[in-house]
Amino acid sequence: MNNMISFLCHNISETEKIAKKFADIISETGAFVCLHGDIGAGKTAFTKFVCKHLNVQQKVTSPSFVILNEYKSGKIPVYHFDLYRLENEGISTISEELSEYSEGKILTMVEWAEFSPDTELPFDRVIVNIKFLSDTEREISFSSIGKKSANIINKLV
Ligand SMILES: Nc1ncnc2c1ncn2[C@@H]1O[C@H](COP(=O)(O)OP(=O)(O)OP(=O)(O)O)[C@@H](O)[C@H]1O
Ligand SMILES: [Mg+2]
Repeated sequence: MNNMISFLCHNISETEKIAKKFADIISETGAFVCLHGDIGAGKTAFTKFVCKHLNVQQKVTSPSFVILNEYKSGKIPVYHFDLYRLENEGISTISEELSEYSEGKILTMVEWAEFSPDTELPFDRVIVNIKFLSDTEREISFSSIGKKSANIINKLV
């Protein structure tokens, strides 16, 4: 893991601001993003804002029951995973394909990526940690593994 940058978001519109900045950067490159944080931290909320600023036309909903939602109507294709339910059902049902979602100019957002073995993730990835501070406040930290993702993080500064 290399560089890391953290933002304090006092309210949800500050979270949206960071998400817009992130969307603008990755709309040029694509990215594979692992989202970490407790239940209700804001992983889905952040993803919704990123999709909004990629001009995704569909309603973006939590993939916690369906595991994967796909959105093809925005600037780049978005694959939104939530692996939480796979903790019990076995990651092997999907994990072999996970790293394939890093090829080309696409955005892959993975909630609860910790339920996937590291070896099933693509090497180059952005790691987003969302920390619940209070009802309205969150700390959002970005770090990266690999060159492509490091460049993305550098542009957030
Ligand atoms: N500053 C903020 N940033 C993000 N979300 C916020 C903020 N303030 C309040 N919230 C609220 O926190 C909630 C976050 O819920 P969300 O579904 O995004 O969590 P999650 O991390 O995806 O949880 P799960 O692990 O259950 O999928 C939303 O209701 C959102 O409106
Ligand atoms: Mg969620």
